[in-house]
Amino acid sequence: MLVLGIETSCDETACALVCDAADPAQRIVSHSLFSQLREHAPYGGVVPEIASRAHIAHLDSLIGETVRKAGLPLTAADAIAVTAGPGLIGGVMVGLMTAKALAYALGKPLIAVNHLEGHALSARLAADTPFPYLLLLVSGGHCQFLAVEDVGVYHRLGTTIDDAVGEAFDKTAKLLGLGYPGGPAVERLARQGDATRFALPRPLKGKPGCDFSFSGLKTAVRLALEHLGAGATEADKADLAASFQAAVLDTIMDRARHAIAMFSERFGRQGRHLVIAGGVAANAALRSSLTELAARNDMQLSAPPPSLCTDNGAMIAWAGLERFKRGSVDSLDAPARARWPLDPQAEAKPFAGAKA
Ligand code: KG4
Ligand code: ZN
Repeated sequence: MLVLGIETSCDETACALVCDAADPAQRIVSHSLFSQLREHAPYGGVVPEIASRAHIAHLDSLIGETVRKAGLPLTAADAIAVTAGPGLIGGVMVGLMTAKALAYALGKPLIAVNHLEGHALSARLAADTPFPYLLLLVSGGHCQFLAVEDVGVYHRLGTTIDDAVGEAFDKTAKLLGLGYPGGPAVERLARQGDATRFALPRPLKGKPGCDFSFSGLKTAVRLALEHLGAGATEADKADLAASFQAAVLDTIMDRARHAIAMFSERFGRQGRHLVIAGGVAANAALRSSLTELAARNDMQLSAPPPSLCTDNGAMIAWAGLERFKRGSVDSLDAPARARWPLDPQAEAKPFAGAKA
């Protein structure tokens, strides 16, 4: 089985052909990615209109490049998978309309993939991670713990009550003058700094449950920087980056301990995998802390390689393949969705009280 996947929900235009080979190393037949970094860099963040236009400009040639690299005709694909949300709606529409046109013209089924499901299943593309597993999904827009029971069956255990962790990295980078995207730049600078120099808050640490909060931490970074004033040196900034990353890791480890307890209570010995996914899962310090935490809890960390953590076409093709294998296809009027939670019931909860 061969599935073409298209991803255009944020600032990467990406495409891949993925198959269901038994060996995970053989599954990505070919992939192409155009990062719009240079287009957005002058604005310090992603500009939705620029993103949509860049997707239009690059998607067709990326699809052509992907099939050429595979040495296969487009007709070899058994289905066309595409991110149908959540994300920047203009970009999502570009990918979805392209995929619908391809599916219609080729007479192939369309699979409208939830971008978050792409991240959630990427550990199965990379390493056949068995269900159920505990997933920490950490990206620019999301920060959640989910119990993943099967394809399409997600139970949210905790989420952020304000900023996502990737957003905190990006905002910290902006304050430190490191440009966009901030995560990798903060991580690099943090390696040279003293993580004990600034006493930054660990939001929600020790509180029950596994929700997150990062807006206070971001403010603390801003105040520390203001306190340093115009004379802040590169060494000061490295110490602040290191202190920030240490506070993030400390917070995530505390929340993860709670999430593991909640997950174990539900699934017992059945689920022994902790999975990380999403752009922030590319962070080496986070990966090594979680590896240790998982081992201490008799679990195994399953982390896709960093190139599969940040947005890519292969994860969308793979999620499409997993859905297609279960007979799940979509009609050509599948909507583009700016919001699309993996666990709609959990999302509905905060409003339930308000209605009563
Ligand atoms: O999953 P992703 O590529 O796009 C979204 O769906 O949001 O995640 C992007 C986020 C950005 O906030 C970026 O700064 C962060 O992931 N990120 C990192 C690292 N690499 C990317 N954060 C921390 N350390 C990294 N090495
Ligand atoms: Zn993403």
